[in-house]
Amino acid sequence: MPSPGEGAWNPGLYERSHSFVWKRGEDLLELLAPQTGERVLDVGCGTGQLTAEIARRGARVLGIDSSPDMVQQARGNYPDLQFEVADASQFRAPEPFDAVFSNAALHWMTKPEAVAAAIAAALKPGGRFVAELGGKGNVGRLSRAAVAVIEELTHAPVRGHFGLWYFPSVAEYATVLESHGLEVRYALLFDRPTPLEGGENGLRDWLQMFLGPVTGSLPAGAGAKFVERLEERLRPQLFRDGAWVVDYRRLRVVAVKVD
Ligand code: BEZ
Repeated sequence: MPSPGEGAWNPGLYERSHSFVWKRGEDLLELLAPQTGERVLDVGCGTGQLTAEIARRGARVLGIDSSPDMVQQARGNYPDLQFEVADASQFRAPEPFDAVFSNAALHWMTKPEAVAAAIAAALKPGGRFVAELGGKGNVGRLSRAAVAVIEELTHAPVRGHFGLWYFPSVAEYATVLESHGLEVRYALLFDRPTPLEGGENGLRDWLQMFLGPVTGSLPAGAGAKFVERLEERLRPQLFRDGAWVVDYRRLRVVAVKVD
């Protein structure tokens, strides 16, 4: 995965408390339908669980991630598989792939044109790109409330999506892909309310994992206030039956590299 802003990923916290990220991505593999012997590139592979699932289905797979910590953990988890530290926007494949796959990573890459160009360059003609990322409106309630609380605490304006995330609409993403020779065959934007692990602590764990650089840059003492106020504000909307349920909205795409 790319870095969450200035901070580093924490693979331990990721695997302990956020396994929903890859579990929810498992059915994306049905869209990829990897075939025995195919070469597949997994972009933003994190700690490697879906990379391993692709390999289990018979493909030869390379997982790339810009986080050295995530790649180290992936190599430890799956020593027989190939993982590399690489920035997807600059990745140049030694040999073209039959397919490029990505789950829950592309929304951390804020140079979508460069990423699409690299994906297109990595594919054989006729090769497919199968991906899921946060789509337009993703974590809308959560991020609006987070912006409001930070502005209350700091009296300074906050950039939309904290400058961290890219959540495109179907039209916007299809335009990016098609301008790089990736013909969109399927695109779907859908709500996926996602219960977090950890009961009462779920939201604070999520904030620590995914908004660490933002909370870490708040003035001394404001980090704890931020979490308390945000929980208070969001509880009526996002806390149900003992769990925080985040307002995820996903964008799924399948595109084919045209000659
Ligand atoms: C997501 O998977 O949609 C996501 C995760 C962390 C922060 C923002 C979005």
